[in-house]
Amino acid sequence: MKRILIISSSPRKNGNSQLLCQKFCKGAEEKGHSVELIRIAEKEIGYCRACDGCMRNNGECVLKDDMNEILKTFQDADVLVLATPIYFYGISAQMKTFIDRTYPIWQHLGCKDVYYIISAGLDKAIIERSLGDLDGFVEHLEK
Ligand SMILES: Cc1cc2nc3c(=O)[nH]c(=O)nc-3n(C[C@H](O)[C@H](O)[C@H](O)COP(=O)(O)O)c2cc1C
Repeated sequence: MKRILIISSSPRKNGNSQLLCQKFCKGAEEKGHSVELIRIAEKEIGYCRACDGCMRNNGECVLKDDMNEILKTFQDADVLVLATPIYFYGISAQMKTFIDRTYPIWQHLGCKDVYYIISAGLDKAIIERSLGDLDGFVEHLEK
């Protein structure tokens, strides 16, 4: 049994990537895994202020919002699913904000299997040139 965290970042509640997240969730639960699906557009997650407060304060962010709880779930997860629509050749602002807010634990992101769920209007070549922010984040995982 693996602990799976799905970060769904489309603001559209019934959007394509969200529907794919729900399918992923159903399949994983049917296989006996424990899944948490978080729609970050519905959470209160402020922008990273780049104040370095977390670096001075043992990884504790100065912002007191939903991200603190999400980071705990993140650290416990064996599998991470990052779901985003493509907006102007990049990931959603919600997903980028989430990634930036992992800064307090960036040296302790742990080992995880990672999957991407990507939704776009155009073709695969457009998607591939749009994923640099996700790849840059995932490269910071320990494995
Ligand atoms: C602001 C905005 C920018 C977009 N930019 C792109 C783009 O650069 N390339 C692309 O293929 N699709 C683009 N799209 C289309 C979305 O990626 C597409 O509709 C996707 O299915 C939305 O994901 P969702 O259904 O999970 O919300 C854009 C949509 C919006 C609203």
